[in-house]
Amino acid sequence: MRIDKFISDLGLASRRECAEAAKRGQLLVDGVAVRDASVHIDPKKSSVVFRGAAVEYEKFVYIMLNKPEGYISATEDGSLPVVTELLPEQLRRRELFPVGRLDKDTVGLMILTNDGWLAHSLLSPKRHVRKEYRFEAAEPLRDGVEELFLKGITLADGYECKSAELSADPDRLGGVIALTEGKYHQIKRMVAATGNRVTRLERITFAGISLDGALGRGEWRYLTDAERESLTRLVPPKATDK
Ligand code: URA
Repeated sequence: MRIDKFISDLGLASRRECAEAAKRGQLLVDGVAVRDASVHIDPKKSSVVFRGAAVEYEKFVYIMLNKPEGYISATEDGSLPVVTELLPEQLRRRELFPVGRLDKDTVGLMILTNDGWLAHSLLSPKRHVRKEYRFEAAEPLRDGVEELFLKGITLADGYECKSAELSADPDRLGGVIALTEGKYHQIKRMVAATGNRVTRLERITFAGISLDGALGRGEWRYLTDAERESLTRLVPPKATDK
């Protein structure tokens, strides 16, 4: 892999900044300054120092994506575009997958990773991970729906949802719903159970991480160290972790 690509994929600098740093002698491979940022390295074996700091090859990658409408929360689909297509080729090769699902027409916060243990643990119903959704409704929300959500909405198929928080907008044509479970089409079905209909849905938080307002739809960034730590704090350590 080209070293400028390696550095830019890790989000440390653009490829041009990497080339400039190399010319200044700020890029070392196995202890030797490389002046040409197009040289190839083995990310798992080469020791790279960029601007005085050792660059670690990271086994796991954690991404925040602002999912646009029209994409399926999957890694492949026979006909429809999937969320991983929004990532650059280099990241797609890291075999990332979405942590949980959003409907094709739902937009907003999606975490992608190749850390199967973390994803599996966060999605476990035992973990009660909190997610918040901003929604718009076809009709004004009925008085008292907040209490129904708190008590636990019963869906059309008889499933009794856990207590959820609904905070309505002043015009009651939408609001924010916070859930600690993740059933299929859950928000749409909960709102439908109150005789209304969701017309727009956006996930704004997941497990304490908020959608970065600087990301346009379809844009992504790496999770910060603090965001990553807030996720790993929620899950039990892997048996092999020390
Ligand atoms: N609830 C829904 O109805 N759809 C989603 O995409 C997420 C939660």
